[in-house]
Amino acid sequence: MDVFRFAGMITIVGAGSTLARTLVPLLLEETDETLHLVSSRMLPFKNDRIRASVIDITDRNALKTSIMEAMPQTIINCAAMTSVDKCETDRQTAWALNVTLVENLTRMARIVDARIVHVSTDYVFDGVKGPYAEGAIANPISYYGKSKLAGENVCLSGSNSVTIVRTNVLYGPSQERPDFVRWVLDALEAGTPIRVVNDQYSNPTYVEDLADAISCIVQRKRNGLYHVGGADYMNRFDFAVKIAEFFKGDVSLIRPVTTQELAQTARRPLKGGLISLKAETDLMMKMRGIESGLSSIRHAFQ
Ligand SMILES: NC(=O)c1ccc[n+]([C@@H]2O[C@H](COP(=O)([O-])OP(=O)(O)OC[C@H]3O[C@@H](n4cnc5c(N)ncnc54)[C@H](OP(=O)(O)O)[C@@H]3O)[C@@H](O)[C@H]2O)c1
Repeated sequence: MDVFRFAGMITIVGAGSTLARTLVPLLLEETDETLHLVSSRMLPFKNDRIRASVIDITDRNALKTSIMEAMPQTIINCAAMTSVDKCETDRQTAWALNVTLVENLTRMARIVDARIVHVSTDYVFDGVKGPYAEGAIANPISYYGKSKLAGENVCLSGSNSVTIVRTNVLYGPSQERPDFVRWVLDALEAGTPIRVVNDQYSNPTYVEDLADAISCIVQRKRNGLYHVGGADYMNRFDFAVKIAEFFKGDVSLIRPVTTQELAQTARRPLKGGLISLKAETDLMMKMRGIESGLSSIRHAFQ
């Protein structure tokens, strides 16, 4: 990578993530900044305002060199170990990505005087009384949730210029890493019956709404904590049925199951989800409901 210094530079770490795939084009459209994309792989983005660093983000020195060269005003961290069950069994990797990486990024952000925007999850809550507003007390019940809460804390204690954006159940048109909608559609297309939990509640978030919120936060230089979740609160089984109905799939392939029967490796919050009132009023945006999200996906596929 060439050494470069630009007046406006945003570093995006985990630029190959589902979120960044939507966020990068949006930031290119909505800002004049140059984007410094940090990823483990070459990404297909093509634009004169993009600079790429292909590195191992868990290598502190490589990360430091990359950020010192870019000298960003803002660092957005989209990287994480997001598989809740894998985090339970591979705790070392979960900690390296969800905590140590964030600690390193926060330190580097302080050195180059950059703001840091870090993405987190409703899994920092125990799911007893969701959906949750920003003031609710975190109490994670899985290693993923614990590591993400620790990541928030290292960020908040390491810099004064921090925004934490919590979200839940991201879905969108991305084909690369299958989300819940893709998983349901693939099963329906293959005629494979699926068992879906009917007691885990959330408010699924259309990925473009999260990207929009982050773009607003970056442009308006907002600090603090923001919850970003979709307009509809429902359990996973009902969400799967809505997907099948919307895309005219065979609803009878979707079978309800309880969390106890499914016995996933990691514990899940039952009444999870996030109240987005602060984001909606402060950032002046409206989160999409499921029907609108699914119709945006259908539009993107046409
Ligand atoms: N997806 C959801 O439903 C959901 C729900 C709540 C909160 N969140 C939060 O939202 C943020 C973005 O989530 P996402 O779903 O967009 O993430 P994602 O698609 O799972 O991507 C995470 C990225 O992290 C990097 N990464 C993961 N494992 C790695 C490893 N072992 N070594 C190096 N890099 C690694 C990769 O970046 P590169 O590809 O660039 O190398 C990967 O693309 C995360 O903080 C997540 O916790 C997501």
